[in-house]
Amino acid sequence: MEVDRVQAIASLSTNVDTIPSEFIRSENEQPAITTLHGVVLEVPVIDLSHSDEENLVKLIAEAAQNWGLFQVVNHGIPDEAISKLIEVGKEFFELPKEEKEVIAKTPESGIEGYGTSLQKEIDGKKGWVDHLFHKIWPPPVINHKYWPKNPPSYREANEKYAEKLREVSDKLFKYLSLGVGLEGHEMKAAVGGDDLIYLMKINYYPPCPRPDLALGVVAHTDMSSLTILVPNEVQGLQVFRDGYWYDVKYIPNALIIHIGDQIEILSNGKYKAVLHRTTVNKEKTRMSWPVFLEPPPEHEVGPISKLVNEENPSKYKTKKYKDYVYCKLNKLPQ
Ligand code: OGA
Ligand code: NI
Repeated sequence: MEVDRVQAIASLSTNVDTIPSEFIRSENEQPAITTLHGVVLEVPVIDLSHSDEENLVKLIAEAAQNWGLFQVVNHGIPDEAISKLIEVGKEFFELPKEEKEVIAKTPESGIEGYGTSLQKEIDGKKGWVDHLFHKIWPPPVINHKYWPKNPPSYREANEKYAEKLREVSDKLFKYLSLGVGLEGHEMKAAVGGDDLIYLMKINYYPPCPRPDLALGVVAHTDMSSLTILVPNEVQGLQVFRDGYWYDVKYIPNALIIHIGDQIEILSNGKYKAVLHRTTVNKEKTRMSWPVFLEPPPEHEVGPISKLVNEENPSKYKTKKYKDYVYCKLNKLPQ
């Protein structure tokens, strides 16, 4: 099936100051109108190398409760592993269209592969972004069919990053667990333990002649448990706070951690999934590499029983992750 890639539309739009109407957001979404300008939000920055674990737990729990988003530094992933990940992803998206289409999504491929729009928007609008999805862990769910063969170092760079990322995610789950009074292993176990799926996404946001009117990814919370994101140097991530959209300022080589829906659910609402979206840039290509930490499809997620009592009745249904995803993508009540 021939699909219009945003990258191709953008390359035809370099000398114009209009964009196709399906990319023009309604007024209540247009970034120029809805962003609180001149304020750059400084989200919590947490140094993971701190030896005072009790303090780390407190900082992470506060950030997860009050923001749903925070950055971590000194996280143990070498700068070089991150710059390699960025380099090979960029090289893939800069290949000729035909080479990218080799790993395009098909009706059978599910979420994995090279693609354009993710979920149907009710009004037929589109985001100014292309993407690539493929699983990077655990080995039984990896399908290399959806990993770029070119550049040749793509695989090694992603494997190295995945290996290091697992250490970071294990730490985060432990601190989040301790932060709600659970034992260190309980939160990760509740999202699937060693079967937790690491789903890599690359977002590719080409330059856009009308960044005032278009959005990259529209407002959403992530369905995942946690999302760990690396951006390139072009700003564009926004979070919704106190009724306004704010730009999030990020620091080089930090990881941006999003609390997703599944952590909100199993913490019975103590931790909050963050509402976020992305804007695009007039001159520059923005890219980002979120990894979604997802429960296996058949795994049931609901509020952890220790966190539910008479004062704190269960606020969410317990359901299989695949059923949660189905409802969310089809905009059905959970
Ligand atoms: C996403 C997302 C943010 C970004 O892909 O779910 O929110 O910074 N991306 O690109
Ligand atoms: Ni997101």
